[in-house]
Amino acid sequence: DKPVVILGIETSCDETAAAVIRDGNEILSNVIASQIEIHKRFGGVVPEVASRKHVESINGVVAEAMERAGVTFDDLSAVAVTYGPGLVGALLTGVSFAKALSFAKGIPLIGVQHIAGHIYANFLSGGMEPPLLALVVSGGHTEVVHMPSHGEFAFLGRTRDDAAGEAYDKVARSMGLDYPGGPVIDRLAQEGNPEAYPFPRAWIDEESIDFSFSGLKSAVINTLHNAEQRGETVSKQDVAASFQAAVVEVLVEKTVRAVRKTGVKNVVVAGGVAANKGLRKRLTERAEEVGFSVHFPSLDLCTDNAAMIAAAAFPLYEQGKFHDLDLNAIASLSL
Ligand code: KG4
Ligand code: ZN
Repeated sequence: DKPVVILGIETSCDETAAAVIRDGNEILSNVIASQIEIHKRFGGVVPEVASRKHVESINGVVAEAMERAGVTFDDLSAVAVTYGPGLVGALLTGVSFAKALSFAKGIPLIGVQHIAGHIYANFLSGGMEPPLLALVVSGGHTEVVHMPSHGEFAFLGRTRDDAAGEAYDKVARSMGLDYPGGPVIDRLAQEGNPEAYPFPRAWIDEESIDFSFSGLKSAVINTLHNAEQRGETVSKQDVAASFQAAVVEVLVEKTVRAVRKTGVKNVVVAGGVAANKGLRKRLTERAEEVGFSVHFPSLDLCTDNAAMIAAAAFPLYEQGKFHDLDLNAIASLSL
């Protein structure tokens, strides 16, 4: 049988990424041009700047992915691209590129939902067979998703305000730390006391699988503010560790609730916050105690990349679920 070779393209936020995947889970290349250094100056992603950088980078990034994979456009079975959710101008760069390539080479075009891509990052390390539950924790999303089979998603719970990654980024900003804040806080947290500050956990009620992080974020900001007014210095390590403990405890226990509620004992974690050391450790411990399996993507595939987009396209390719050339970027595309 001829191998299925899919080029994936991802431009939904601040990474211009392209990757070539063989047969759904073998990474031939995975190229990421990060704009983080540019956006750092502004403390977050500036949409207009992101769009322009994507346009500048896309040709080179795709060329590099093809070269590293040792394939030509003629070897491709399909081209897959993130078409939402994300910044519409940023998304459009990837979508336009993929449509042009699909048209020029006469190969199928497969639009991929970004969060589905994050979930399929688990597929690339062999840890994913539906039915499963996915804990999605990124900069824009915090959700527990039931995935009974490939391509089918049902929400069990979601955040009512900030996403987990967003809370990390906002708290980091208030502490004067670099963007993106997640990795920085995670590092500081390793050296701090998680019980130094009793920050609130939003359980909502005994049953709920929904999340809320805005109260926690405000509690941290107030603590920093009050200390400053009193002329006290706070240990950034202790604040980071206490904040992280609160986020992780809620994420882990809500996942446990979802396992108990559905009886699905196969959990994967997805999105940038899946790289978090505290979350990886605590959820692994609880999975063992409660009796379910948990799988995390490899660290480099937790944050935005195109390998996960090509991986998510593979079952769609197998099912012949292709898009026409009128595919458009959709800023608020849902799973
Ligand atoms: O999935 P992602 O790359 O982009 C979105 O689709 O949102 O996630 C980025 C988010 C950022 O908020 C970043 O601070 C967070 O993931 N993040 C982390 C860690 N690494 C990245 N949060 C906590 N701990 C980490 N180690
Ligand atoms: Zn993402």
